[in-house]
Amino acid sequence: MRVIGLSSGTSVDGIDAALTDIAGHGQHVRLRLLAYRTFPYPRGLRPRLLALQNGGRTEDLCHLNAYLGELFADAAKRLAESAGIPLRRVALIGSHGQTVAHRPVPIREGRYRIRSTLQIGEPSVIAERTGVLTVADFRPRDLAAGGQGAPLTPLIHHRCFSHPKRNRLVVNLGGITNVTWLPAGGSLDRLVAFDTGPGNMVIDGLMERVTRGRRTMDRSGRTASSGTVRMELLRSLLRHPYLRLRPPKTTGRELFGRLLVDRVWRRVSPSMPPRDLIATVTAFTASSIADAYHRFLRHRGTVHDVIVGGGGVYNDALMKRLADAFEPVPVHSMAAHGIDPKAIEATAFALLAYTTMQGEANNIPRVTGAHHAVMLGKIIPILDEKRLEKRREA
Ligand SMILES: Nc1ncnc2c1ncn2[C@@H]1O[C@H](COP(=O)(O)OP(=O)(O)O)[C@@H](O)[C@H]1O
Ligand SMILES: [Mg+2]
Repeated sequence: MRVIGLSSGTSVDGIDAALTDIAGHGQHVRLRLLAYRTFPYPRGLRPRLLALQNGGRTEDLCHLNAYLGELFADAAKRLAESAGIPLRRVALIGSHGQTVAHRPVPIREGRYRIRSTLQIGEPSVIAERTGVLTVADFRPRDLAAGGQGAPLTPLIHHRCFSHPKRNRLVVNLGGITNVTWLPAGGSLDRLVAFDTGPGNMVIDGLMERVTRGRRTMDRSGRTASSGTVRMELLRSLLRHPYLRLRPPKTTGRELFGRLLVDRVWRRVSPSMPPRDLIATVTAFTASSIADAYHRFLRHRGTVHDVIVGGGGVYNDALMKRLADAFEPVPVHSMAAHGIDPKAIEATAFALLAYTTMQGEANNIPRVTGAHHAVMLGKIIPILDEKRLEKRREA
């Protein structure tokens, strides 16, 4: 079955689209990536999406939900087109959407304890424009079942990287970093996965600050590579209370977005050279990941391979810091294991859509903290003209 997965992460940089071929079920599901593309958001959209997360207006939320639906639909269409596969040959689309709020910690409302999450990119628009059955909104069901609604990628990490003899740590360097612990020969119920804290988000935020908005990332980690890590600032960053929280835990822009960036900036500007600042927050990301391993995973076994995905693999300074932090354990990009490090998230949502349509539970309660296994997602059906015709004739 051909399945397209669509996603956009906390970096709010654009839409990742993966065209996959998936077959089989349960433990025996087989998955092949046929094509992958990333579609950067149109200029000016990112700040509008970020504004939603900082107390934006409901009208904008409503409008951008429909607008993103169009962009996600276009991403699916253009990916299929460039792969030379007509959309009518695509059986299914799995769309994560764009997270604009994620509040897994309960807030009291009378006798209820409300935990919520919101991803936009209207799936009805995707189904309408593509004519392909669409499964979307994967997180709310897990939250409803008592989970954190995240992380959802461990299922595919297990599929792609689990090894019979080696303990592996999969590290996804998105805006936020999430890790998946894959014990040697481990089944799904022995996985551990959680958000360790910052990924590229703090680096991106401060790059934007020091270049007055001219640059939104430290391309290839060049700025960090030319700077010196300031130990005092690094130590204070590593005292962030989130790092001590026990898993299961997930986080987002709420903790590592503008608030933290502003705090760091106020503290060091203008005395610290930008390159030192960027070097230090790059070290912060790498150290917080190694720190999470030592605190929460090491007692389960020694890691044999660290396998890295997400946009952060292109940041050489970050990869070098990570290699230093895990030395002598080898740290490699997913590419070294034959998997595109940027495509894995979108592929994950293709697999989730597929498993849901197979009628299989696909959250991992042990990982998200849900009370039980559930099937994730909401299904936007497509009218089957042929079947309808038959029914009319009958
Ligand atoms: N060439 C590059 N050099 C350095 N950093 C990069 C590069 N390409 C991508 N990144 C980083 O990766 C981030 C996007 O990673 P991605 O995996 O898409 O994260 P998310 O899932 O949060 O959207 C960018 O915001 C940027 O910080
Ligand atoms: Mg992204």
